[in-house]
Amino acid sequence: MYIFVGIFLIIFFFIIVSFAYGGLLAAPYVPMWKKDVQRALDLAKIKPNETLYDLGSGDGRIIIEAARAYGAKAIGFEIALLPYIYSYVKIKLMGMHKDVQINLGNFFENDLGKANVITAFLSTRAMAKLKDKFEKELRPGTRVLSFVFRIEGWEPEIIHKPKEKDLPIYLYRIK
Ligand SMILES: C[S@@+](CC[C@H](N)C(=O)[O-])C[C@H]1O[C@@H](n2cnc3c(N)ncnc32)[C@H](O)[C@@H]1O
Repeated sequence: MYIFVGIFLIIFFFIIVSFAYGGLLAAPYVPMWKKDVQRALDLAKIKPNETLYDLGSGDGRIIIEAARAYGAKAIGFEIALLPYIYSYVKIKLMGMHKDVQINLGNFFENDLGKANVITAFLSTRAMAKLKDKFEKELRPGTRVLSFVFRIEGWEPEIIHKPKEKDLPIYLYRIK
């Protein structure tokens, strides 16, 4: 009995620590509304042969929709254990693991150079940190979509906010 309680507490500890770590590194887990996922992917004009990276992929809603509705190859990076496991299982159960890949880890430590489209719903601080990485790694023509948070010092090609109550999506294109 004590062993089970011990194992449960250890797992619980890792889950909480990984949530907190994600929050400290870039942003806590807050899922994007489904209508905004659609808005972001429409704005990205993603094509079937393109690759989308979602930085901090949460429950996988963006990468799954990018592959399901747009035929893209989609790759997510997630540091918090619970959303990672949830999205991993969901992708397997949906039989989408050929087109949708999910990596457990820190996106700051991964090369982003193969992306055609980057999506991020993070924080002002995280976007400031990512700006240098984007400038070093992303190829010309890559679209960067930041939900809510502007990249200071970059001029957005589009600020999408169709209604007053909508949150802005900033679309940037690497020159
Ligand atoms: C605001 S949520 C967005 C989730 C998802 N992209 C969406 O829009 O529904 C941010 C996510 O980024 C994850 N995260 C934060 N920093 C990270 C990092 N350095 N590497 C990987 N994931 C990170 C958090 O754990 C959280 O799940």
